[in-house]
Amino acid sequence: MTKIRVALVTGGSRGLGAEISRQLVQEGLRVLVAARNVDRADEVSRSLGAQAVPLSLDVASPDSVTAAVEYAITRMGRIDVLINNAGVALDGAQRAIGVDYRLLDTTLLTNLIGPWRMADAVVPHMVRNGYGRIVNVTSNLGSLAGMTQGQEPAYRVSKAALNALTRILAADLVGTGVLVNAASPGWIRTAMGGAKARRSVEQGADTPVWLATLSEGNETTGGLFYDREPLPW
Ligand SMILES: NC(=O)c1ccc[n+]([C@@H]2O[C@H](COP(=O)([O-])OP(=O)(O)OC[C@H]3O[C@@H](n4cnc5c(N)ncnc54)[C@H](OP(=O)(O)O)[C@@H]3O)[C@@H](O)[C@H]2O)c1
Repeated sequence: MTKIRVALVTGGSRGLGAEISRQLVQEGLRVLVAARNVDRADEVSRSLGAQAVPLSLDVASPDSVTAAVEYAITRMGRIDVLINNAGVALDGAQRAIGVDYRLLDTTLLTNLIGPWRMADAVVPHMVRNGYGRIVNVTSNLGSLAGMTQGQEPAYRVSKAALNALTRILAADLVGTGVLVNAASPGWIRTAMGGAKARRSVEQGADTPVWLATLSEGNETTGGLFYDREPLPW
C-alpha cells in the first residue's frame, strides 16, 4: 500500500503558505496548516477538506515548536515534509546602521531560528523513517550574489543565514533520505508582497511544492531554486 505523506507547513494561514498547503493537498499529501492565528489556519484547513488539519504554532517560541511537532506526530503518525515558510519582513526602509534591534531580534527569531528549531524537532523523526523533505522559503533578497547596500538589512541577513542553514543541514543529512533545499518564490502578491507584486501565489508555491514532493531516490539537496531552476547563492 502506498504511504500517504504528511507535510507541516509553517505560516499556512495565509499568502504563500496557504497556497503551498492547497497544492500539497492536491498532490495527495495530508497537510498540517500551522500558524499563530489558529482560527485563520482552521479556515484554510476547512477550505482544503479532510486532508488538512490546523495546527497552533509560533516558530519564535521553543515551547510552541516542541508542542506542535509532538502533537503533529501523535495526531498524524509521521511528518515527511517540513515547509519552513513562516516569515516576517519588518524593517522596511531601515539601513544596517541605526537598525531597530527589536525588529532585528524578531526577524532573526522568526526567519532563521524558527526554521532551525523546526528542523531540529523533525529531523530525528525523519531520519528514523529514512525519508524527509525540508524546504526553506527564502528570498532573492537573501542571495549574497546580489547583495549590495540598501534597505531591509534584517530581512536580507535573515534569509542569507537561512540559505547557509540550508546548505549546512543538507550536508549533514546526506545519505539519510532527508533532502534539504531552499526555494525563492519571487515577488508575490500577499500581505507581505503587496498588491503591486508581479507574481501570483500559485507561481510562488510551485517550486516549494516541487521540492517537497521530490520522488524517493532523488538526491537533489543543498540547492536554491527559483521556478524549478537553480539560482546562485
Ligand atoms: N511575498 C513575497 O513577495 C515574498 C518574496 C520572497 C520571499 N517571501 C517569503 O515567503 C514566505 C511567506 O510570505 P508571504 O508573502 O506569504 O507572507 P504573509 O502573507 O505575511 O504570511 C506570513 C505567514 O507567516 C505566518 N507567521 C509569521 N510569523 C510567524 C510565527 N512566529 N510563527 C508561525 N507563523 C508565523 C503568518 O501567520 P500568523 O501571523 O497567523 O502566525 C502567515 O501565515 C516568507 O518566508 C517570506 O519571507 C515572500
